[in-house]
Amino acid sequence: MADSVADRKTAAEQLDSFRDDVLAGLAEPIPAVPARCLYDHQGSQLFDRITRLPAYYPTRTETALLESIIDEVAARIPKGAAVVEFGAGSATKTPTLLRAIAPAAYVPIDISGAYLSESAAQLDADFPELRVLPVVADFVHPFKLPDAVARLPKLGFFPGSTIGNFVPRSATDLLRHFRELLGTGAQLLIGMDRVKPVERLIAAYDDRDGITARFNLNLLERINRELEGTIPLDAFRHEARWNDILSRIEMHLVAVRDVEFTVCGRPFAFQAGSSIHSENSHKYERRGARVLLLAGGWTPIAEWSDPAGDWAIVLAEAQPNRFAP
Ligand code: AVI
Repeated sequence: MADSVADRKTAAEQLDSFRDDVLAGLAEPIPAVPARCLYDHQGSQLFDRITRLPAYYPTRTETALLESIIDEVAARIPKGAAVVEFGAGSATKTPTLLRAIAPAAYVPIDISGAYLSESAAQLDADFPELRVLPVVADFVHPFKLPDAVARLPKLGFFPGSTIGNFVPRSATDLLRHFRELLGTGAQLLIGMDRVKPVERLIAAYDDRDGITARFNLNLLERINRELEGTIPLDAFRHEARWNDILSRIEMHLVAVRDVEFTVCGRPFAFQAGSSIHSENSHKYERRGARVLLLAGGWTPIAEWSDPAGDWAIVLAEAQPNRFAP
C-alpha cells in the first residue's frame, strides 16, 4: 500500500531549472542541453513508444534477460529486503523482480510525482500486501529514504542502462551517491548496454518510424512551449552519431540552415551544420562496466548476459572499505 510521498519538486521549481539548463546550455561554446530536459510529459510518452520499437533492442533484451535469471538473482538477495528503484519503475521489469524476491518494502524514486502515483497505484493493485513507499525526488541529488526502511537490507534497482546517459565522471558520482544512500552491505542490480556494431546502434537511435527524431525534436517544442522560444522547428533535424573514442551514441539537433531565435527573450544564432547536443548513451564492454562500478564503490559479485551478448545485468555489493595495497 502506498503511504508516503516526500520531497516534492513544484512545477515552478521544475520550470526554473529547465530555463537555467537551457539558457546555460545554449550559450556554451559547444551547445548542449542536459538529457533530463527531454523528459517532459510528451517526451516521456515518446520514450515509452521508443521502448516498443523493433529496432530499439534495450527494453525487450533486458526484460527477457531479467526473466531468465530472476531465480538466480532472488537466491542472492536477503529475505525481508527493501527494493529501492531509481526511476518510476517499468511495468514489466519491476513486477518480475518484486514477484521473485517478495521484498518487505518497495521504494520507487522519481522526479515526476504524476508518473510515480500512476505506477504506485498499479503496483498497489497487483501486490496488495506490498508496502510501497514512493519518494518524489531527483535521484541525482541528495535525498532521504523513508524511515520505515532504515533497518532493512537494501537492494538498489537501476535497470534500462540509464547509467549510460551519464558521462563516466557523473556516473561514478551517481554510483557513489547510491552507495551513500543505501549504505555499506547494500546490493545494486543494474542493467548496462554493451558495445555492438555501429549499424545496430544507429538503427536503434534513429529509427525508421522517426519516433526517436520526434523525441529529440520535442526538446525544441518544449523550449518554445515553456520558455517563450521562437525556434523554427524545420530548421533542425535529429542526428544519432556513434562516438567511438568515448564509446557512446550521441543525439544531436543539427541546424539545416543558418538560424536565429530567442529563448526567454535572449538571442541565439546557429550556423548550418552546427548542433545542440541533447543526449549521450554510453555503451560498455564487460570489463569497462566492472571498473565503472568499482570506481563508484560497488563490487560486482555476479553478472548475466543474453546469449547474443547485447546486454548485461550486474549484481554488485557495497562492501566495507578496507586497506588495499
Ligand atoms: C533512457 N535511456 C536509457 C535511453 C537510452 O537508450 O539511452 C534514452 C533514449 N534516447 C533515445 N532513445 C532512447
